[in-house]
Amino acid sequence: MCGIVCAVSDKPVLPLLIEGLKKLEYRGYDSAGVALYDPQPDGDQFARTRSVGRIAKLESALAKKQDSLSSAGIAHTRWATHGKPTQFNTHPHVSSGKVALVHNGIIENYQGLRDELIEAGYVFSSETDTEVMVHEIHRQLSLGHDLLEAVQSTVKKLRGAYAIGVMNADEPRRIIGARSGSPMVVGIGDNGGYIASDMSALLSVTHDFYVLEDGDIVDIQDGKITLTDINLKPVKRAVFTSQQSDEAAKLGEYRHYMLKEIHEQHQALADTLEGRISGTHVLEGICGADDQALFSQLEAIQIIACGTSYYAGLVAKHWFEKYGMPCQVEIASEFRSRKHVVPNNCLVVTLSQSGETIDTLGALKVAMEAGFAHSLSVCNVPESSLVRESDLVLMTRAGPEIGVASTKAFTTQLAALLLLVCAVCRHKNLSEEQQAAIVTELRELPALAAKVVSRASEFEALAEQFSDKQHALFLGRGSHYPIAMEGALKLKEISYIHAEAYAAGELKHGPLALVDENMPVVAVAPNNSLLEKLKVNIEAVKARGGKMLVFADEEADIENDKNCQIIKITAVDNIISPIIFIIPLQLLAYYVALIKGTDVDKPRNLAKSVTVE
Ligand code: AGP
Repeated sequence: MCGIVCAVSDKPVLPLLIEGLKKLEYRGYDSAGVALYDPQPDGDQFARTRSVGRIAKLESALAKKQDSLSSAGIAHTRWATHGKPTQFNTHPHVSSGKVALVHNGIIENYQGLRDELIEAGYVFSSETDTEVMVHEIHRQLSLGHDLLEAVQSTVKKLRGAYAIGVMNADEPRRIIGARSGSPMVVGIGDNGGYIASDMSALLSVTHDFYVLEDGDIVDIQDGKITLTDINLKPVKRAVFTSQQSDEAAKLGEYRHYMLKEIHEQHQALADTLEGRISGTHVLEGICGADDQALFSQLEAIQIIACGTSYYAGLVAKHWFEKYGMPCQVEIASEFRSRKHVVPNNCLVVTLSQSGETIDTLGALKVAMEAGFAHSLSVCNVPESSLVRESDLVLMTRAGPEIGVASTKAFTTQLAALLLLVCAVCRHKNLSEEQQAAIVTELRELPALAAKVVSRASEFEALAEQFSDKQHALFLGRGSHYPIAMEGALKLKEISYIHAEAYAAGELKHGPLALVDENMPVVAVAPNNSLLEKLKVNIEAVKARGGKMLVFADEEADIENDKNCQIIKITAVDNIISPIIFIIPLQLLAYYVALIKGTDVDKPRNLAKSVTVE
């Protein structure tokens, strides 16, 4: 799971390659490198710079080359799969000083290819699966093939996923790209042609793109872009004009993107709702022109997602089933690897911030092959693979989310899902009055979210009690159990404290044994029908010497004492309260991470978009 950006232009390309890598850093940030076509005094045709760590480190390493006039180059940011993040394993990889290559994906049959190439005399300098490709292309060139044919015959030998950019030292004005299973876009510029893992990397030079499909190969030569399939037959892809702006992704006054994105939630929620509700109801057509005809026939919903998006799905299950629509939720990586009994007229709903999560994309494919009737994606990136591959779409409109820890993507997913619940369940048990009540709550949601965020300093004051802890438990019930799960995920991914969530009723079936004065226990306590049962669970923790931190509804009537600290959250209707109750947990995790001094926006071992299985 990596990012690539390549450029052939009539201008120097190094600044663009560095800027592009910064935009793609969400895809991995273990190490990064650039190869420029730039003949060196020692005879090398490529100037290659690689460094372990963030793009900023690569940028410093390239400081002396800032004035490079090279007008062709390839660049890569890595999330290590095969081989540790070392200089040797960092891309671009080069074969015999003649071919340079960057790769996003995983080559499953690399070992066999590697053995063959070693037998043929190639010396490997990395532990990566990628290096076989660059040597194989070199071998094909030595057999007399042109670069395009060499790339074609190489990719035909591959099993797995790839998006590659390739340069040949003998053809300085040419770059070839190819993809299968990993995303790739081709930027169409006035001054050249470009390749990248996604559009954001190239917005400073173009908004016009070809979105390549599996098996496509692109040949960019002297400003001309040619697209073919894997058999080198010309293919046509429509020009897609991106509406993304380069500005929205800037940090501004905030210390971290995560904090910025938490603070943006009220606006993001307002944007998600805009133009989708009117009077007392959710508008028809929010998911596409014919959505009501389709929704009226639905008999079941199957939600598929990963991580934070999966937790949003678990909340939505409570909502769908409350209003009569059967709903199953499954982690995408599990869904994609088992057999399915397909319910009649079942809508598959994929949830994803990025729309590029490979497990979610894979699960959607499996679902469609298994015979699920229709697909709908709730997604934040309009130009993503998931959006392109779904029948219907409901965009979350959260704007760019850069912090690896999802915040505004989650709350806007929940808001979008609640719109979807109305649009679907009014054909089931959701009455007009109930729909009107939900719409009223949704209208109040952005202001309520802003009110909770404005109390950030109160949540900051709680963080100290976690800073010396190794473990924490999170408890919730009903639609707030997934909120406890998401709160625990936030804490563990950015503060590295081991945090687990339990349905509060499960506590007595095992995890209670863990409770002592060193185990903080966080509970989410909205004022709903499950509150009395939750209070019993809280008492059970206190009786074992545990320390409780309870985020409770203003009207929940739970007493503060020395072992139980109550943080009162605005009284809020039960249906939208999961969207409000996650906000203090996001802020708590953020401030614990600040105390622990972790890299909040880029926690260790993670990446924003998970494009490996
Ligand atoms: C959580 O903070 C993470 N960002 C992660 O769990 C994420 O939700 C998951 O990888 C799924 O990503 P997606 O929504 O882009 O598909």
